[in-house]
Order: sequence, then C-alpha cells, then structure tokens
Amino acid sequence: QERLKGFGKDSDFVPRRVHVVGAGVMGGDIAAWCALRGMTVTLQDQSVERIAPAIARANKLYEKKFRGDKRQVRFTLDRLIADPQGHGAAHADVIIEAIYENLDAKQALFRDLESRAKPDAVLATNTSSLRLEDIATALDRPERLVGIHFFNPVAMMPLVEVVEGTDSDADAVKRAAAFVRAIDKLPLPVKSAPGFLVNAVLGPYMLEALRCVEEGIAPETVDEALLAFGMPMGPVELVDTVGLDIAVAAGKALAGDETAQAPRKLLDLVAAGHLGKKSGQGYYRWSGGKAQRGS
Ligand code: 3HC
Repeated sequence: QERLKGFGKDSDFVPRRVHVVGAGVMGGDIAAWCALRGMTVTLQDQSVERIAPAIARANKLYEKKFRGDKRQVRFTLDRLIADPQGHGAAHADVIIEAIYENLDAKQALFRDLESRAKPDAVLATNTSSLRLEDIATALDRPERLVGIHFFNPVAMMPLVEVVEGTDSDADAVKRAAAFVRAIDKLPLPVKSAPGFLVNAVLGPYMLEALRCVEEGIAPETVDEALLAFGMPMGPVELVDTVGLDIAVAAGKALAGDETAQAPRKLLDLVAAGHLGKKSGQGYYRWSGGKAQRGS
C-alpha cells in the first residue's frame, strides 16, 4: 500500500518532452494526453498521413476539454507535433513505443531509438503481450527499458502500469513512475509477468464473454447482462474497443498459445481484417464511434 501511494513521488525527474512512436489508437491517444498535460510531444509514424487521424482525435478531445476555447485548443495542439522522421527522439526525456505487437519490429525500433536518445531518457514500451526482456535484448543497455502500459481509452483511464523487467534499472522505473504522475495518471508498479496485473484479471473475463457468443448468445445479450451487473461497458464491446488483434495477442501472452484458447469467431474476424472499433467492424458494426446494436 505504501509503495503504491508513494510510487513515483520520490524522484526529482521533471519530464518536459515526450516522443511517442506509433500513431495508432494507443500511441496517438497517449501523445494527445501528454500534450494536454503540458508536455511537448513529438509523434512518429511512417508518414504524416498516418499521424493525421491521431491529431484529429486530439483536436476533438481538446475541444471538449476546453469547451470550444479555440485559443487553448490551438495552444495545446501546437505542443503535439507530427514527426514522421523521428527527430524528437534525440531531445525527449521520455520515449514511448506503441507500434504493433511484433517483436522484430520493436527490437529494430529500440536499436535505432537507443542510438539517438539522450543517455538519461526513459525508454518505454506500451506492449501488453510481448516480454520486456525479449525486446530489451536489442539494446546495448537493456536495463534502460521499462514498460509504461496505458489503458484504452487513454483519456478516461486513470491507471497506468509501470512495468519492471528482470533487468530494469531501479532508477529508470522510478523515473517512469514520476513521468506517469507528471501526466496526472496513477502509476501501478508491476513485474514483467503475462498480462501484468490488469489484463491478467480482465483477459479471462473477456474470453469467457466471447465463449458465450461462440455458444450462440448474442453479443448484445452478454453485454446487457454485464452492464446491468454494474460494469462500465459490456465485455464484448470492450473487446471491440481494445481491438480484436490486441485481444488475440494479449490472450496469447496469457495462455501461451492463442489458437488453443481463442474462440474461432475471434480468429476469423481478425483474419478478415475486422479489428473492432478502429476498423469499423468487429463483433459489432461501428459508426460515429458507437457500436451499432443488432449488427
Ligand atoms: N476518448 C475520450 N473520452 C471518451 C472516450 C474516448 N475514447 N470514450 C468515452 N469518453 C468520455 C465521454 O466523452 C464521456 O465524457 P463526459 O462524461 O465528460 O461527457 C465519458 O467518457 C463517458 O462516456 P459515455 O457516457 O459515452 O460512456 P461510458 O459511461 O460507458 O464511459 C468509458 C466510457 C469510460 C470508456 C467506460 O465505458 C469504461 O470505463 N469502459 C471500460 C474501459 C476499460 O476497461 N478499458 C481497459 C481496456 S484493457 C486495455 O486497454 C489494455 C490493453 O493492453 C488490452
């Protein structure tokens, strides 16, 4: 309890610049949140076109937060810089990787980031399914890598898991926790174990919901039951929100072998490119950011 309350408070680390790699749902929303909380943020992806949807989402978030005060919105958007070349990595106090869940791609990225980052910058991955230790093998100084694991939707979820790998340097973990506090989130210290804490609990819950659907119960029925029980969102809608590809990867990390665990329909939907909210179709059809019941 004491460690939880104080985690990240006993550090003099004052982060100001953040570099996020990967402008998908998580990376884009992490970048947007950091800029909202006063950081200067560079957001890297393969092209400006790939970054544009994240900036558009940030714009919407800021308009809501600042109730249409155009000056404040503009001012905050100015701190969120599209950076396809990744120039920001050299100046950042914190670098967060949030690209797709592929070990080779993450290793290659961190090799490059380490060569360009300031020697004392926090190097963090937002992975939910790959082992920190495996990603860290790409680094000259593997002890630099920590996990900073956000939840979807980033703007609404107060908790962030700060993941300590077996090799992680204690000071790097402390600085990561201080950063999480600096952006007004609550850092939870976790060890590098499958699912960390939250997904280890949430994963089986979502999986059982998908099994109910597999057995012929409509997604709406499952979701309505759990909503009536008091959950903030139905578990099937949550899978769609998180992303079906992410759910498969997280399930694999938890179970060791996704094909043994994952429901057929989940795998079929992913194979068809139906990844949930972000692609417009998952267990539900999505329109205007809302799941369409009876779809
Ligand atoms: N971005 C920003 N704000 C959002 C949002 C988003 N994507 N989605 C909803 N909101 C805001 C709404 O604008 C609204 O704000 P207001 O109260 O100021 O008007 C507020 O959230 C409530 O929205 P709604 O009334 O439309 O809907 P809900 O009451 O259902 O709340 C929710 C939305 C907060 C997302 C809630 O449904 C919830 O907590 N769901 C569970 C989310 C969850 O469990 N996430 C963890 C997933 S696991 C994960 O991410 C880890 C990964 O590794 C797999």
